[in-house]
Amino acid sequence: MIGNKLQDLQNRKEKIMEGGGQKRVEKQHGNGKMTARERINLLMDQGSFVEIDAFVQHRCNQLGMENTQAPAEGVVTGYGTVNGRLVYIYAQDFTVLGGSLGEMHAKKICKVLDMAMKVGAPVVGINDSGGARIQEGVDALSGYGQIFYRNTIASGVVPQISVIMGPCAGGAVYSPAITDFVFMVDKTSQMFITGPQVIKTVTGEEVTSEDLGGAMTHNRISGVAHFMSPDENQCVEDIKTLLSFLPSNNMETPPVFDTADDINRAEEALNEIVPDNPNKPYDMKEVIRLIVDNGEFFEVQAYYALNMITGFARLNGRSIGIIANQPKVLAGCLDINASDKAGRFIRTCDAFNIPVLNMVDVPGFLPGTNQEYGGIIRHGAKMLYAYSEATVPKVTLVTRKAYGGAYLAMCSKDLGADVVLAWPSAEIAVMGPEGAANIIFRKDIEGSDNPVATRQAKIDQYKDSFANPYIAASRGFVDDVIVPSGTRQRIISAFDMLLGKRETRPAKKHGNLPV
Ligand code: HXC
Repeated sequence: MIGNKLQDLQNRKEKIMEGGGQKRVEKQHGNGKMTARERINLLMDQGSFVEIDAFVQHRCNQLGMENTQAPAEGVVTGYGTVNGRLVYIYAQDFTVLGGSLGEMHAKKICKVLDMAMKVGAPVVGINDSGGARIQEGVDALSGYGQIFYRNTIASGVVPQISVIMGPCAGGAVYSPAITDFVFMVDKTSQMFITGPQVIKTVTGEEVTSEDLGGAMTHNRISGVAHFMSPDENQCVEDIKTLLSFLPSNNMETPPVFDTADDINRAEEALNEIVPDNPNKPYDMKEVIRLIVDNGEFFEVQAYYALNMITGFARLNGRSIGIIANQPKVLAGCLDINASDKAGRFIRTCDAFNIPVLNMVDVPGFLPGTNQEYGGIIRHGAKMLYAYSEATVPKVTLVTRKAYGGAYLAMCSKDLGADVVLAWPSAEIAVMGPEGAANIIFRKDIEGSDNPVATRQAKIDQYKDSFANPYIAASRGFVDDVIVPSGTRQRIISAFDMLLGKRETRPAKKHGNLPV
């Protein structure tokens, strides 16, 4: 008797494992995509994945659905481990009704989100779906709503990682947008609110789905995505790397790794990296690599707002988030996109107990009507807000320029930097020497017989008096002026000293971040 029942169970499971059938699986592979289960098995430690809700079925009896089987309801859900740590996962199965989302499909995803919240573990959501299941109408819309609600409640509690590995249209894009990180795969993933057909009908604009919402579009232009991988294998590797920098939840700290890199490693190259000419750029990423453990820097939003660098690294084996100006692009000016990118990253780090290192070489906010009309005031304010709000250890290193509001926006002492270090090449002032001389010595310059020479003399006078770190250090805004070659040792020492930092904020419902 039990033998029959066991056979029945096995038959049922085998049917479910087939997904949408061999033909559709072949089509999926032919499009350079893996199936939902192949993706899960690649991400999870071998044999660790436990599937739940495989027997769930839809309850729709309209538009032919009454005769349609949807194995696993088009989404594979469960939990397992990634490098030994618990992770919840859902992966939409495009071979089953195009991975479209109906009432019960959504319920499966919600169950995973609820369990991850209870247990305190990250959620990885792999999206590959035609969006709301048309046959299920408002039940499908409700399903999306329930996911958005849970994504929001879980925000800042457990890390939520969205992976786009296929089409992602309509409401389907908003769940990823609420989560912490969005991965996309080049050429096989798209995100858009309305597709090319609708756009053509409404506005007459003609655009391909790749140009409209492909990985490069969202990594380079819109800033919706944080990572772009050349294929699904690399994407899964990148997800593992990201998870290694994050804690499992907001009550924990990220895992600590043994590092073979000497914490006292001196880097003579840093003494020479800042050019004598203040208008000459250098690569801040090179400075980062010379300081962090093993030169390993995992960049976040590597293709967006290149004047601002954000990403994770380790110092003495501990995760840190780095927010750095890039003098090579727009001279490192802060603009709308850079402010958004940094503001968001600072809040992500703070939510998940990741200390921040701020590396400053910033001549100011980018001037211009584009920026003002676009609301640079509101966007730049996000950085001031995010740094002030953050209670994680905050260490700021000024390598060269730190002018005006941008000096404050890159986490000066006043916004709560715990330790501020400066290189001797630092220039901390209200503005650069040229601009300052033009304003405060305007009358002297205009009234002089030789305005060019007078102007240069005044610029030099201003440089000697103000374009250095010592005035800020004399007020205690800079804790120490350091030899650049010893930066790694000094920053590690600062973060070690701050390990026990505890800072609280007044009780409130929530702040009102300028958005
Ligand atoms: C039901 C769907 C579906 C959907 C696809 N399918 N999308 N079934 N509801 N939304 C089914 C197809 O009928 C087909 O079934 C199978 O999935 C594969 O689809 P194909 O079209 O054959 O695949 P492909 O050519 O690769 O094109 C994929 C696609 C296209 C680009 C995703 O299917 C498409 O445009 N779908 C509709 C997208 C959309 O407009 N969704 C609604 C968004 S509005 P068979 O049986 O033939 O294999 C939305 C509102 C939510 O989501 C708002 C929440 C707030």
